[in-house]
Amino acid sequence: MKLLLVKNYEEMSDIAFKMVKKTVVKNKNAVLGLATGSTPLGLYANMVSDYKINATDYSGVRTFNLDEYLYLAPANKNSYAYYMRKNLFNHININLKNTNIPNGVARDENAECERYNALLNENKIDLQILGVGSNGHIAFNEPNTPFDSVTHVVNLTKSTINDNSRLFDKGEEVPQKAYTMGLKNILSAKSIIILASGKNKADAVYGLSKGQITPLLPASVLRLHGDCTLIADEDAAYKIM
Ligand code: F6R
Repeated sequence: MKLLLVKNYEEMSDIAFKMVKKTVVKNKNAVLGLATGSTPLGLYANMVSDYKINATDYSGVRTFNLDEYLYLAPANKNSYAYYMRKNLFNHININLKNTNIPNGVARDENAECERYNALLNENKIDLQILGVGSNGHIAFNEPNTPFDSVTHVVNLTKSTINDNSRLFDKGEEVPQKAYTMGLKNILSAKSIIILASGKNKADAVYGLSKGQITPLLPASVLRLHGDCTLIADEDAAYKIM
């Protein structure tokens, strides 16, 4: 795993943006794997400003999101489908038909997992963007997820539900279940960038880069990938400096 230590969130977002831009400029039909949450917001804001200035072309780009909450429709403002439109897709010239996110309101959960997994098998991701949970999860692969897991429904841990509750209005229920790509799907990407910012990620960053490679810390599996870059800011990296 390559490690890039940067000063702060802005520098992390800038480097990640340059890597994404290089990928889509080199290949106008690039396939991007995308994450949600707080971490990639700076990256997406950079992609939007760059699009406004340079009209970088996303018309042939395809995207696959890592995960989606169960029972939230795309119109629900807490769904990841809504987040992606609000923070990225509505502001660049991507074709929404080329964007893929598990359907939170699919009638049949197993069929939805199979549908999404088949799509992932047919479309190799060129560059996968990841954040990391404070407990070391990637996508919603919580501790103890097998390394050979594929798309599945997960019961979120208390720690993840607590971490995510800040994004919900008071009194709104944080969903307890989600669809997620499995670790095997993530490892199939040609290149991976994992972003980490803030002191609450320091244990996860330590574990994933220096600890044991173990399902107890799902992000540690990334050390088995041949082309994975961890971009961590000083706060997130203070335990490994
Ligand atoms: C989101 C995702 C999650 C987040 C992780 C960190 O699509 O897959 O694994 O990357 O929970 O979340 P933030 O960035 O909000 O700290």
